[in-house]
Amino acid sequence: MLYPIPAVMVSCGREGETPNIITVAWAGNICSSPAMLSISVRKERHSYDIIKETGEFIVNLTSRELTRAADWCGVRSGRDYDKFKEMGLTPQKSTKVSCPGIAESPVNIECKVHSVVELGSHDMFIAEVLCVTVDDRFMDDKGRFDLGAADLVAYSHGEYFALGEKIGKFGYSVAKKPAAKKGEKKPSSKKTSAKKPTTYPKKKKGNTK
Ligand SMILES: Cc1cc2nc3c(=O)[nH]c(=O)nc-3n(C[C@H](O)[C@H](O)[C@H](O)COP(=O)(O)O)c2cc1C
Repeated sequence: MLYPIPAVMVSCGREGETPNIITVAWAGNICSSPAMLSISVRKERHSYDIIKETGEFIVNLTSRELTRAADWCGVRSGRDYDKFKEMGLTPQKSTKVSCPGIAESPVNIECKVHSVVELGSHDMFIAEVLCVTVDDRFMDDKGRFDLGAADLVAYSHGEYFALGEKIGKFGYSVAKKPAAKKGEKKPSSKKTSAKKPTTYPKKKKGNTK
């Protein structure tokens, strides 16, 4: 399967009932315009019926600080616990949907269910993104979301990880190098590596085929 993946905290709720949180790792972006995402949930989850009935949920991104709560919400059921209360989380009024988001999460993505695909163990809720709320603390001077500052968490093979070192950015492989300034020496195009180049496929001695 694919790794790493996010482990998001999905909040949901029915009128007159305590809102709930389910941790979901089977989640992903699926369309840019209209903005859509999916979450896959087992039928036996308490949250399944809530989301199916209301057609709404909120994806709350998990920061390092929220990791313990995310894990706990993923091993306890809303049938037995008030997860907001138990984890000391604050229900936050949403803009476009009736259920609350998690105030402590850096990003709340309000979603409306578009369709449900029965896949087997999980049903996939395909949803339209209605509204995204980002904590001011994580917006940079240019009004962009500063992912690094939000300290988001990834999930891989049953373990939670902080995001690591930045090693590139979109399109960097084809980006033009800045022109050298007057008087500056052009960087040499000669390879400086001491390693011998390798030819693929490696030729075997005596085999000419
Ligand atoms: C890291 C993590 C990822 C999880 N991913 C999913 C998932 O993608 N789909 C799912 O149905 N359950 C998933 N679970 C399990 C549910 O979160 C768990 O069964 C939870 O207790 C259900 O809560 P509920 O009964 O209140 O809805 C995950 C649990 C953890 C800890």
